[in-house]
Amino acid sequence: MDNKEIAKKLSSLAQLDIDAVHAYKEAIEKVEDLQIRENLTRYREDHERHFSELSAEIRRLGETPPEFSPDFKGYLIQGFTSLRSMTGTEGALKAMHTNEKLTNKTYKEAGSWNLPTDIQTIIDQAYEDERHHLEYIEMKLNK
Ligand SMILES: [Fe+2]
Repeated sequence: MDNKEIAKKLSSLAQLDIDAVHAYKEAIEKVEDLQIRENLTRYREDHERHFSELSAEIRRLGETPPEFSPDFKGYLIQGFTSLRSMTGTEGALKAMHTNEKLTNKTYKEAGSWNLPTDIQTIIDQAYEDERHHLEYIEMKLNK
């Protein structure tokens, strides 16, 4: 895989992280529970960090990272649609569950992309965060 191809793959992850940030912003506004709000805010920050880390790698490869658009890009369309129709903490968690299942699936797949070790490490660490996000949301929905 040449630099351009690697950068393209990293860009697809970065786009997903942009969507996740916007989805968390909308979800957080619907959550009344302070503890859950705090956790979701931390997860939003994780996605912002993943975006920054991926962008730095894309630049190092000589390519341009995706722009951090003020709106979502449509990668998490299903979760966004449900965010708009659902209300309250449970609705927000259900919508984010849909979103996190997709980000987890994508980051998991990225684990088999055979990228250079330093880039793979960044992706593996991000996937760890993703698993944690999904686990927490599932725990809150099941109680
Ligand atoms: Fe996440």
